[in-house]
Amino acid sequence: MDGDFTIVQDWDGYTAEQHGVWRTLFHRQAETLVGRAAPEFLAGLSALSVTADGIPDFRRLNDVLARATNWRIVAVPGLVPDAIFFEHLANRRFPSTCFIRTPAQLDYIQEPDVFHDIFGHVPMLVNPVFADYIQAYGAGGLKALGLGSLHHLARLYWYTVEFGLVRTREGLRIYGSGIVSSHAESLYALDSARPHRLAFDLMRIMRTAYRIDDVQETYFVIDGYDQLFDATRPDFTPYYATLKTQSDIAPGALLRGDVAIARG
Ligand code: PHE
Ligand code: CO
Repeated sequence: MDGDFTIVQDWDGYTAEQHGVWRTLFHRQAETLVGRAAPEFLAGLSALSVTADGIPDFRRLNDVLARATNWRIVAVPGLVPDAIFFEHLANRRFPSTCFIRTPAQLDYIQEPDVFHDIFGHVPMLVNPVFADYIQAYGAGGLKALGLGSLHHLARLYWYTVEFGLVRTREGLRIYGSGIVSSHAESLYALDSARPHRLAFDLMRIMRTAYRIDDVQETYFVIDGYDQLFDATRPDFTPYYATLKTQSDIAPGALLRGDVAIARG
């Protein structure tokens, strides 16, 4: 392992069963996500659709990605230290795990595996605007670390990059990687009456705790990626100062001032 925590994918080392798990997950999600995932996600997926056959070889994926947005996937053994993670993003390198869940974990796995990291995240990195957003987030992460505000900024990543919904003319769509890589949550996030779906609100999001062990109790809906980029362009330093004086919001709480977005 290098100082930047990167390893070699060892694509030749995957077994037929491991490729089979990818194939099962890929085909199920590709079908489920028609009419559910954001058009930008589906466009990215088809740009990368060479990967339906099995766990993709990062070297092949990187050829496509380099041409599209000059991003690159680097293999890592699992979660890496925050500073390392942000340093990669700020340099347009996306750290991806290599291992794949077992057949028994098809429906739920708590930690990111290669299906989540590649199928979930890489399609949006093909989108030029989103590609720039993730890079800016990486630089913002390094700054937040220095200001002791990472717990606040991390919630923004969680409620946008991982669990974001976007409003389109055809209705709500999923762009969050944590949702698109989960069969159950792809259905739940759009169809269930249980979770709150609230209009994007940067400060509200950074105050909101999240759960990592179950489907989300609250999703935040953007009107489009421009809204996300415009809201996150300013220097967050004064925002962090304000947040230090404010209490956290529980994952399922509703506040006066929250704007609910209809499902339909
Ligand atoms: N503009 C933010 C800052 O100054 C950084 C950031 C960019 C955060 C994009 C999130 C997304 O800290
Ligand atoms: Co993720």
